[in-house]
Amino acid sequence: MEIEKLKKEILCVDSLLVLTGAGVSQESGIPTFRGKDGLWKNYDATQLATPHAFERDPKLVWEWYNWRRGKILNAEPNSAHYGIKKLEEIIPEFLLATQNVDDLHRTAGSKNILELHGNIFRTRCTGCGKIEFEKKIFDEEELPPGCKECGSLLRPDVVWFGEPLDQLVISKVMEFALKCSAVLVVGTSAVVYPAASIPYYVKEKGGRVFEINMEPTPVSGIADISILGRAGETFEKMMQDTG
Ligand code: OAD
Ligand code: ZN
Repeated sequence: MEIEKLKKEILCVDSLLVLTGAGVSQESGIPTFRGKDGLWKNYDATQLATPHAFERDPKLVWEWYNWRRGKILNAEPNSAHYGIKKLEEIIPEFLLATQNVDDLHRTAGSKNILELHGNIFRTRCTGCGKIEFEKKIFDEEELPPGCKECGSLLRPDVVWFGEPLDQLVISKVMEFALKCSAVLVVGTSAVVYPAASIPYYVKEKGGRVFEINMEPTPVSGIADISILGRAGETFEKMMQDTG
């Protein structure tokens, strides 16, 4: 069976990169971005996560992020988050690169995490650049929030479409991708770059590529083992007797 095969291989690798996307948090009740799940009040989520949308209507964009904050604060990590944390304890060299902004990997206890797309609980001032982290939901009348220091508009400290990723973060991930022996890609549609390019770098350097997703993705074509299934359920089976 494919899960057994994956388990056998993955528990033996000496350095593992795990790349996660919204599918990892789906079983925690957090909507993904694409597909019917990605709709909010008839808006396509990918149309809201843009600098243009924020310029046009900061309140609307903030309402969506505030709604997501609420969903996340009511959610708990699932077996996929905990399974990934367990892998970190077992595998000598480990890095988790997540596209998720929901902080659930940290809540589950993962340590070596790089957040490619930022964190939804951080705000960044569009004026003075001040960054703050607070796990809270804003009151409706606070939206869009302003900076206490300079009065400018605060924005979620996440990466929007058309914006560059933090150079330091992406270069650390790439450095690891080029030297690791395997990458496990979980719950991402693998269409948003540069995150989506990571499995290809690993493959090119002779590393193994593993994937867990409910549907085939562009990564499935280069994957050595591809599991079609829900991430939480798959990890539950895979990590059963690992302590
Ligand atoms: P998407 O919404 O594009 O894709 C979610 C993926 O998870 C799909 O491939 C689903 O098949 C899969 N999936 C859904 N539920 C699953 C489950 N329970 N178990 C396993 N797989 C499941 O989300 P991302 O790939 O994370 O970026 O999207 C990438 C980026 O696009 C996001 O970080 C965000 C978004 O716009 C920015 O905001 C910059
Ligand atoms: Zn400010």
